[in-house]
Formats: sequence, structure tokens, C-alpha cells
Amino acid sequence: MAKVEPDLRAQLGRVFGAETEEVALTHSTSEGISIVAWSLNWQPGDEVIISNIEHPANVVPWYVLRDRYGIVIREIDLSSGTHLLDEVRARLSARTRMVSISHVSRNNGRAVRTDESAELGRVLRDRGIRYHLDGAQGPGCVITDFRALGCDCYSTCGHKWLLGPKGTGALFVRREVLDDVQLSWAGSHSHATMDYEGNYTLLPSAARYEFGTRALADFAGFGRAVAWMEQIGLERVEDRIQSLVDHAIEAVDATNGLAMTSPRTRPDRSGVFVLKLPEGCDATALYNDLRDNAGILASPVRQPRDFRLSIHFFNTRDEIDAAIAAISERCT
Ligand SMILES: Cc1ncc(COP(=O)(O)O)c(C=O)c1O
Repeated sequence: MAKVEPDLRAQLGRVFGAETEEVALTHSTSEGISIVAWSLNWQPGDEVIISNIEHPANVVPWYVLRDRYGIVIREIDLSSGTHLLDEVRARLSARTRMVSISHVSRNNGRAVRTDESAELGRVLRDRGIRYHLDGAQGPGCVITDFRALGCDCYSTCGHKWLLGPKGTGALFVRREVLDDVQLSWAGSHSHATMDYEGNYTLLPSAARYEFGTRALADFAGFGRAVAWMEQIGLERVEDRIQSLVDHAIEAVDATNGLAMTSPRTRPDRSGVFVLKLPEGCDATALYNDLRDNAGILASPVRQPRDFRLSIHFFNTRDEIDAAIAAISERCT
């Protein structure tokens, strides 16, 4: 039992480009996001930059900080085809303290490319601005290398593309900024030493962000899931996803009325495949109908006519054809 957590930190670091000391185990992506969001001493007027394609998990914490500390939220446009660095540059100010955006968006499937992320990381580091990626939809969907992405912090979870148990996640924090990403929550397991006279030292690693007793079986399951994905091969998984996405694009192009919201080309696209429904087609009604009557689980997203299919390596071309046909039948 004592090996579950250290082994998992080492494994996640090895597979996703972090050092073991840069990995904290969390229970969800949201937990990682909150650890990062609350890690600064925010002052009224301080600014955070997010985007227009975020999950609520990377929006609500900023609303709370806005209402509690008077921070200002700026939004960049990460619709397909915009230029990440230009978008951020246009909103930087002397008060910008953090940029927090999705690695892979659940709203339009855009994957921030490793090269553009690294470039952004350099720009932000020079200005002392913290850079965080919400990676809930990253690992297992697109090749993810924390160090190569050039961000300071990366939050992810076990239960999505990595096919692990719910209640598992990880936060990667660049070793150099560990002392700047300050703790808001701490407890048993955060410290290296403490006494009852008021003294303590934190763990020298990202494990300092962990506290309290964990459901070890869940974390053991997370490790098994990642090992299984590794055995299949994460590059093979990504290639298979991308070839299924090619197929899905062809199927959409062959319909009369469906279009794409997601980027069409690699490496900006991912297995998060978002369609634009025709005028008058309601994504939520379609979602309910497909679930109840066609055995297809898809998802409405932020824009009312955008509709998401999550295409993983275990899906088949027949399933994709069936899904696009079912959508097309109901909407066009
Ligand atoms: C981009 C993104 N961020 C965050 C989350 C929330 O993840 P979690 O449930 O692990 O907190 C999701 C969940 O769908 C997501 O898609």
C-alpha cells in the first residue's frame, strides 16, 4: 500500500514529461485548477486571462476570486483558427498575473500545440506571469509532455481519456516555481517536518499539495489504467484517434447540413470532435434523443448549435458512421 502513491507519481511523471518531484496526486482536474487558482496573493485589479472555450471548472474559480478579491477576468478567443500568442499578447497588461486555458478544449476540441504553448510559456515567464493548462482532455487524447508544453502548472484527471477511475487526478508543477505556487490547503502529508511549537517545513516536492488520507485503490487503478494505455502505446492511441477523426470529417463533409466547429487539421485537432448543427437543431434535445433512442452518448457544449462526439481509439468507423447518420437524420 505504501508504494501506490510514490509509484504513481513516478509513473505519471515518466509518461507525461514531468519529474517525479513535480507530480501531485489530486482527485480531479478541478482540484488541480483550484490549487493553482488560489496559489497567488491576489490583489484587487489583478488580471487573469482565460478563453472563450473553457469548461466551467476553469471559469467558476475565477468568478469566485473576482467576487472575493476583485480580480479582473480577461478572455481570449480560441475558436478554431485564431492565433494563441497574438490573442494573449493583445490582452496582457501590467496587472496580468496568470494565464489559465485548456490544453484541449471540451467546447471545440482545439488542442493547444506544444510549440505554440512553449512559445507562450517563454513570453509569460519573462514577464513573471504564471501559466496554467487545464489538461482534463489532454493525456490519452493527444501526446502530452508537460515540460515541452512550457507551462508552470498542468491539471489533469484519470477518469477521461486515460480510462482510469473517477476520483483520481494529477497536478504537475514545474520544480522551479514550487515555492511560488503557494499552498491554500495543507495538512497531514503536506509537510516534511513539523512540531507543536509552530514550526514546519513543506515537502520539497509537489506532493506538498496533497493532504489527508486517500482511497488508495482508486489511485492503484489510475496506475493500472495508465500502464494499460502505455502497453497499447500512447502514440498508437493518438494515431488511431486521428485516423478516426479523418473518417469523421469525411462523413460530416458528405452530409448536407452538418459542419465542423473543431479544427480540421493536425496537430490543432483532437479526439474531441465538435460539429456545428444546422439552424433550428437543438443540441440538448439531440443529446437526449440520441442517448434514449439510439444508444449514442454525445454532448451539447457551450454554443447552442455545437455538438460534441468524443472519439477514442476503441471506437470504430461503423460507430462514427452510425452517429453522424443519426445526427444527420434528426437535424438535416
Ligand atoms: C476541459 C475540462 N476541464 C475540466 C473538467 C473537469 O474535470 P474534473 O471532473 O476532472 O474536475 C472537464 C470535464 O469535462 C473538462 O472537459
